[in-house]
Amino acid sequence: KQIARAVKFTSKLFGNALSKRIKATILYATETGKSEMYAKKLAEIFSHAFHSQVLAMDEYDTSKIEHEALLLVVASTFGNGDPPENGQSFAQFLYTMKMDENGMTNGHTSTNLASSASFIKANSQIDHVASLERTDSFRGSVTDADIFGPLSNVRFAVFGLGSSAYPNFCAFGSYVDNLLGELGGERLMKLTTGDEMCCQEGAFKKWAPEVFKLACDTFCLDDETFLEATSVLQSEAITAASVRFVESTPDDVDKALSHCHNKKVYKCPLIGKRNLHGKGSARATLLLEIGISGGIEYEPGDHVGVLACNKKELVEGIISHLDCPTDPDKPVQLQNLKATHTPDGIVRNWTPHEKLPKCSLRTLLLRFLDITTPPTPNLLQFFSSCATDEAEQKRLNHLATDSAAYEDWRHWTFPNLLEVFEEFPSVKPLPALLVAQLTPLQPRYYSISSSPALYANQIHLTVAVVKYRTQGGNGPVHYGVASNYLYDLTIGEDLYLYVRSAPNFHLPKSEACPIIMVGPGTGIAPFRGFWQHRLAQRSLNGPGKFGKMALFFGCQQGILDLYREEKTSMVKEGVLSKVYLALSREPSIPKTYVQDLMKLEAKSIYVQLVNEGGHFFVCGDCTMAEHVFKTLRNIIQEQGSMEDPEVDSFMLKLRNKD
Ligand code: 2AM
Repeated sequence: KQIARAVKFTSKLFGNALSKRIKATILYATETGKSEMYAKKLAEIFSHAFHSQVLAMDEYDTSKIEHEALLLVVASTFGNGDPPENGQSFAQFLYTMKMDENGMTNGHTSTNLASSASFIKANSQIDHVASLERTDSFRGSVTDADIFGPLSNVRFAVFGLGSSAYPNFCAFGSYVDNLLGELGGERLMKLTTGDEMCCQEGAFKKWAPEVFKLACDTFCLDDETFLEATSVLQSEAITAASVRFVESTPDDVDKALSHCHNKKVYKCPLIGKRNLHGKGSARATLLLEIGISGGIEYEPGDHVGVLACNKKELVEGIISHLDCPTDPDKPVQLQNLKATHTPDGIVRNWTPHEKLPKCSLRTLLLRFLDITTPPTPNLLQFFSSCATDEAEQKRLNHLATDSAAYEDWRHWTFPNLLEVFEEFPSVKPLPALLVAQLTPLQPRYYSISSSPALYANQIHLTVAVVKYRTQGGNGPVHYGVASNYLYDLTIGEDLYLYVRSAPNFHLPKSEACPIIMVGPGTGIAPFRGFWQHRLAQRSLNGPGKFGKMALFFGCQQGILDLYREEKTSMVKEGVLSKVYLALSREPSIPKTYVQDLMKLEAKSIYVQLVNEGGHFFVCGDCTMAEHVFKTLRNIIQEQGSMEDPEVDSFMLKLRNKD
């Protein structure tokens, strides 16, 4: 306490000059730029009392981590629980550090944590190992560093961003928080999460000042500037007076998309398209062939992020509803009236929107804004404030404030923006005000269905076209944004995309390794890339040294089988050793799922994975993957007569294979 007071006294005497010698390192991992934006806001706050530095995780020199005084992390989670691309190396680094600490790296290949399954399980396993090791350490005679871990000088706090619409909510933020703690770091505050589905911004605005105050207290610094520091969080309500469109020259679409999505986006032509289902099928699953040129590289198993467009009719409907006062096809820039604190008081300036480009209102609605996800309660509240009809205003207010009523309405009608305007016709917000309230249209990810070894200048995708009716099947037809955009795209037209690497879903380095692939429905997509790759390798090196490659595929009926001829030809060529087909709704046979066929092949699966060191891949929806995982675990346990810990350890090793 004495020391604390003395330091505080000194810091007061010398103002911020001394205190700002304490470094605050702020790391973020972001997929869409949101975590980066929050991290930068946090850095602004912390710069009032600390020497703050903000970095993407993959820009950070991890050798410095043990010398950090204060480490703040803002981390998003991608998809089903993965780190964002720029967080993968940091995830790997923490994992290796933890394994090193436990003396577990010898003889282990390093884990790649990019796949959600391995990521989550490795995470829980680390917790388990860590607690065992720690108990052991306490028994022997150990040094402080042994007990407290290598990060014992580091104070840290983590804010995790995620969406509760996906499984493993905020898994990456929670992983980083766990490991920093396990490695001895002192947690300033327990992990705080922000849910994209509900009040994410509110959660951040509550967390940031709290963690700033705690950090100031911990390091005995003044927080006299607290109000000024946190004023960056005070977003003023957006009103007609605080947003405007200004006529501008338009940005290039690829540059605008790259800026908006924080990625280098490429413009590529569609060069081929066909429906993989026979004529008799009501469904469409497309094989799309896309031309790529310099700058784009990929490996089989990687993903493509497609920057799709909303349906033209939907955009047209919205524009005509709004009765736009200006031409919706004239390029404009959205500007916000922003307040900045200066020594002379608050100054307001018109500032261009951080993410949205200069383009027409039509292009904003077509390419940049989400107009199909049902509006959030906040947006409904805004609509309520725009409604000129009293009954509509009341109903919107009710939906915005009564969560049960909101959920019922959302679930039943699942309305897009045009349908909301049709239900509440008196809501006609000013276009600039509406644009400022909408969220960005997110990229849609697809597994690549080709190999660059066979198609050097192409990327192929396998895409199921999504269409469904709302209101229990009796409502209007809704169209999946990206799949229908691709369905409508004509040969020769360009689309915008980028490649996202999936390092944990690549073919094993050794070609002699047996491979078992499980991919029902469009889960087959990446495996077509795998067999093409193997085909190309065989024509280069001859068939001699390649391991077996088996595929378990499933669909409802025989007519929905995908790539039937190609698979048959791959079997003839000796590329695929066996193809299993599970039909779940073929009238003449009992319902069969891929895992049922796996059970019949239990012995050979065991031999390939355990005796021959094979690899196992699964692609498709989460429930299926969970069932397949359980079936595989049972097969290994029964065939190998293993106890629970032995089979669990085998499954973990299987996940961590390189
Ligand atoms: P279903 O639609 O008849 O239930 C591709 O979607 C195939 O995967 C379909 O045959 C589908 O069957 C099947 N499928 C659905 N849920 C599954 C699960 N939990 N495990 C395995 N296959 C599943």
